[in-house]
Amino acid sequence: MIKFWLVVLMVLSSGFYSTGAVMNDSTVPDSVNIGILYSFNTSIGRILKIAMEAAVEDVNSDPSILGKTQLKVIMQEDSKYKGFLSIAETLQLMAKHTVAIIGPQSSITAHVISHVANELQVPLLSFSATDPTLSSLQFPFFIRTAQNDLFQMTAIAELVVFFGWRQVIAIYVDDDHGRNGITALGDKLAEKRCKISFKAPMSTEATKEEITDVLVQVALAESRIIVLHTNTIWGPKVFSVAQNLGMMGTGYVWIATSFLSTLLDTASPLPSDEMQDIQGVVTLRMYTPETELKRRFVSRWKNLTRGNTASGPMGLTTYCLYAYDTVWLLARAIDTFFKKGDRITFSNDSKLSQLHGDSLHLDALNIFNEGNKLRSSILGVNMTGVTGQVKYTSDGNLVNPAFEVLNVIGTGVRKIGYWSNHSGLSVVPPESLYSKPANRSVANQKLHDVIWPGDTVHKPRGWVFPNSGKRLKIGIPKRVSYREFVSQAQGADLFKGFCIDVFLAAVNLLPYGVPYNFVPFGDGNSNPSNTELVRLITAGVFDAAVGDITITTERTRMVDFTQPFIESGLVVVTPVKKLETSAWAFLRPFTPMMWAVTGIFFLFVGAAVWILEHRLNDDFRGPPKRQFVTILWFSFSTMFFAHREKTVSTLGRFVLLIWLFVVLIINSSYTASLTSILTVQQLVSPIEGIESLINIKDRIGYLQGSFTRDYLIEEVGIDESRLVPLKTPEETAKALKDGSHNGGVTAYIDERAYTELFLSSRCDFTIVGQEFTRNGWGFAFPRDSPLAIDMSTAILELAENGDLQRIHDKWLLSSACLSQGSKLEVDRLNLKSFWGLYLVAGLACFLALLIYLIQIMRQYKKDHSEEVESSNHSQGSSRVRTFLSFVDEKAEDVKSRSKRRQMERISYRSSDGGSSSAMASSKEYSQPAASNRSTDCVTGEDQCQC
Ligand code: SER
Repeated sequence: MIKFWLVVLMVLSSGFYSTGAVMNDSTVPDSVNIGILYSFNTSIGRILKIAMEAAVEDVNSDPSILGKTQLKVIMQEDSKYKGFLSIAETLQLMAKHTVAIIGPQSSITAHVISHVANELQVPLLSFSATDPTLSSLQFPFFIRTAQNDLFQMTAIAELVVFFGWRQVIAIYVDDDHGRNGITALGDKLAEKRCKISFKAPMSTEATKEEITDVLVQVALAESRIIVLHTNTIWGPKVFSVAQNLGMMGTGYVWIATSFLSTLLDTASPLPSDEMQDIQGVVTLRMYTPETELKRRFVSRWKNLTRGNTASGPMGLTTYCLYAYDTVWLLARAIDTFFKKGDRITFSNDSKLSQLHGDSLHLDALNIFNEGNKLRSSILGVNMTGVTGQVKYTSDGNLVNPAFEVLNVIGTGVRKIGYWSNHSGLSVVPPESLYSKPANRSVANQKLHDVIWPGDTVHKPRGWVFPNSGKRLKIGIPKRVSYREFVSQAQGADLFKGFCIDVFLAAVNLLPYGVPYNFVPFGDGNSNPSNTELVRLITAGVFDAAVGDITITTERTRMVDFTQPFIESGLVVVTPVKKLETSAWAFLRPFTPMMWAVTGIFFLFVGAAVWILEHRLNDDFRGPPKRQFVTILWFSFSTMFFAHREKTVSTLGRFVLLIWLFVVLIINSSYTASLTSILTVQQLVSPIEGIESLINIKDRIGYLQGSFTRDYLIEEVGIDESRLVPLKTPEETAKALKDGSHNGGVTAYIDERAYTELFLSSRCDFTIVGQEFTRNGWGFAFPRDSPLAIDMSTAILELAENGDLQRIHDKWLLSSACLSQGSKLEVDRLNLKSFWGLYLVAGLACFLALLIYLIQIMRQYKKDHSEEVESSNHSQGSSRVRTFLSFVDEKAEDVKSRSKRRQMERISYRSSDGGSSSAMASSKEYSQPAASNRSTDCVTGEDQCQC
């Protein structure tokens, strides 16, 4: 309190209405007051002061900047981390009419004094207050002259992703700097689908015991990736405690923010025990390119610190470079400010003046009238300093943010790469990438090898099984049906089945051992609900669940699933029966109309060919009756391409050609259709898929315990009263056979995996329609479980190397009716399907023979009527003999007539100019033909031809 009143007195004694600049003429002042607010008593503050003093000296001795105007620096000690005192110290500075203040050192102070800067319009330039929230619109007069921690946190998030980790633990000091930095880290990790799984805040004044308590909590957590975001004073204490707790050994990953690189740069080499505590730690350092200016400053640094009598380390840190550039940045901005003709004036018309008379005397503080202009001038500077290009982007951050990635090894650090906001992680300096298009692809992210804590180059897995290595409790559904998938051996805690084998095979592929116990879930009388099993993971009853667990939306909201190890969408199963075969099945391929039209066409084409041929072709000549028969015979014999009559006219041949093609198509279509009618099973149910089930009122079966019930009610909209739970395949088959109207079900809806097993031995059911969901089965783990990720990778490996298929075949390939004898029986054609055809053919033969017999009888009667009458009284046996000899004669006649016609055809061709061989043949047969002709004429047939 006494200190505060001293401050107020100082403020009062500093006078009012001062311009803050001593004028050398009417335009440009001789000097300009700038304040520097830093903790010069800290090791880092001491070296920063050296850098800033060197910069002020350089500016004041450089005539090219500010002309004769000198920078007049007013140094003010910043009571680091003491917010209230910092306000008083800032007020002291501002009362001295400073046009800008370089500082403060910490983000905590920056937060509180930014409000004062806003009110008095005095720009604050800090290169060490890196809290990202200071860049908010709330603090327009806060200008950061180094890298925003937002970028450092982006770099850490990208490191986490680069090494394939998903979760980190954040240890930080619970102040503005720590809290806000870690919030930014959380945001950046979330962008990459990673997260902070455990936040471990510590008090700014945490004792060793308190740090120990926090680190014990950290050691019990699952993640082994620890991000430490603190300051140079507190950080080494944490490492020391972590070393004592064995947390700096193999398996742990420590990523320290830039406080560690600053400590190593300024105080290097650290005492060996401190170095021992941080072996393998990865840290970041603000990146500044290697330029001539930087090299000169680095070589000058020894001279600058040589004469310094203050105790403590004097190493050059990147912050020194930014401190030096900050003074130059301000000088250039003031220079531009003056060059634009702007002048420095203060006024006390602030609201503070209304407090006049108050014992605090805050009305002594004046507003820098041109503060906004100077702020704009600072943000508009574009210069090259020892840190490289100094220029602001529109969001108030310096251009080209970049960091070096360092690995603490031995007595120092090893650079393992760079991070730039342009292209992410690389092993080449960022400036060599700026000319190329930004490329953040995974393949483009590179770092050199890291030596991790425990002196190992093997990348730590990043997590351990929680609960200090206790065995995982894995819930297994106790199925009562479809036990091929998962089942418990009678009276033992042994499980077997397809899902268990897949799990064991996947676990064997993990590069580490997984201690687990299978715990049965379910009463053993009915199939348990897998949704309930999954829910018990969220309740902490189980650490995972393995079985035929379908990945559904509802369940993924509760747990993380591995990649599916089997596809299993929902399908509809209904009974099938082959259509009752009939003797007239051969008529089914064509409709009656088709038959009629086909028949008419046969006749029509026959008639057409006859018209075209009969004048030229003897085959189509003869008595009308015979020609009519020829037409019929010719037409229908084309059906089998068996017509004997030659076509001689071009037109006739053309018609025949076309017609034969039509016949070919008709024949093949008929054959195909008849085959399918006789062999393919036909559905007897009108159900064609899920759609047809929605609109009817029939009952539908589902596998008891399955998610299918909820799905059908909630997603498909089927009324609950229509759903019938079916426990076993036998129950399902019976219900389907009975049908909905006899207390059973019309259709059964289940996942393809079960239905394939169901149908493998039941050929009188089938799947109708398509799979209407695309589910799969996976193993369930708690949200964000790293084991789920590793198991997914293992399952993919099993799928790729064929083991998954082998396990599938072992358990799920059973004797399917599709490939066995039963199928052959189903497809074999029997007489039942063909007796109609045989009947028609038999009838045709019978009729033809009958007609033939009648004709013979009639002829016999006619030719021998007299003979019959004369021998009327002869014996019956001699009659029969006479009739038989007559039949023989007729047969001989028919034979001779046929031979004669053949000979006539040959002679016709010979006389028509046929070949000599044809002539010879004609001669050879001429005699018998003549004799037959006379026989024919005697019988009175073919009179026209005679
Ligand atoms: N696979 C089904 C489910 O997960 C039945 O067990 O609900």
